[in-house]
Amino acid sequence: MHNNLSKTYSEILEYCFEVKQSKNVSISRSQIDHLLSEILKIDKLKLLLNPEIKISFLKKKEFLKKFFLLINNKPVSRILGKREFFSKEYLINKYTLDPRQDTELLVEVVLTLSKKLKKKKNLTILELGSGSGCVLSSVACELKKLRNDFIVVGVDICKNANKLACKNLINHRVTSNTKILKSNWFSNINERFDIIYANPPYVRSQDISDLGEELNYDPKIALNGGKDGLFCYKQISKKLSSFLLPNGYFCTEIGFNQGLEVKKIFEGINLNLYGSYNDLGRRERCLVFHKKKKV
Ligand SMILES: C[S@@+](CC[C@H](N)C(=O)[O-])C[C@H]1O[C@@H](n2cnc3c(N)ncnc32)[C@H](O)[C@@H]1O
Repeated sequence: MHNNLSKTYSEILEYCFEVKQSKNVSISRSQIDHLLSEILKIDKLKLLLNPEIKISFLKKKEFLKKFFLLINNKPVSRILGKREFFSKEYLINKYTLDPRQDTELLVEVVLTLSKKLKKKKNLTILELGSGSGCVLSSVACELKKLRNDFIVVGVDICKNANKLACKNLINHRVTSNTKILKSNWFSNINERFDIIYANPPYVRSQDISDLGEELNYDPKIALNGGKDGLFCYKQISKKLSSFLLPNGYFCTEIGFNQGLEVKKIFEGINLNLYGSYNDLGRRERCLVFHKKKKV
């Protein structure tokens, strides 16, 4: 394969399968196609329909370099520095969590709550731990289709994650309805919000190294939920009430089997459990709490 000639897509595929077999690694055809279509800047379907399409020497070289990262278990999203989330593309880097598809549920729940508050003028929303900004941007992009009088503020403790989030917000043209701040949860916030939501770090410290290679590429600060996985929920709960407007909602993603404990934490600060949402595997992954008008 390492010669100066261009190759066809089918020749490259054949080579990839030989390497895959000889190294006994589990990569899929879809991952290979994804990489190749990004490098060639052509649609995946067009690639699939044209097995004899020519791939120049330089493109082949670029592909092989990335293919060997894939063989060594680097996720395609990390190789390409981007990932699709809620049908849009987001830049990611070593400072940001690689957005998970499960988190799209959080977007849907926040949008449902926003619709519930459709009569509220100048809707204010806060995201705690905004990372790449994919959730915040998805919420803003969808809300923009319905109204203009809203703001979504994202805070993250990591200034480099915030820089990338700003780029993503520019790319998706939602800068006029969004703001990114560096803050240790509420430390730099001085207003109250109609909706506050989070996908905080919730992996138990001792589990981080056991949960698969994929997590090796995520920053520890985006994963580490302390000894019991609940540290960040507890931190957030200490100040949450003073930043939530009366009749406001708090919405959070939770890890598998954390429902009971997380409910206890937020009911313990006098919020009412308002709803609980499951992922496609029927696991409870998102909780909503409501602040009574007079708390
Ligand atoms: C699980 S990631 C979620 C990222 C993004 N919202 C998403 O869903 O893809 C948690 C985020 O919380 C941030 N974080 C951790 N501790 C924080 C703190 N004390 N204050 C603010 N953000 C924090 C991390 O930097 C990380 O970006």
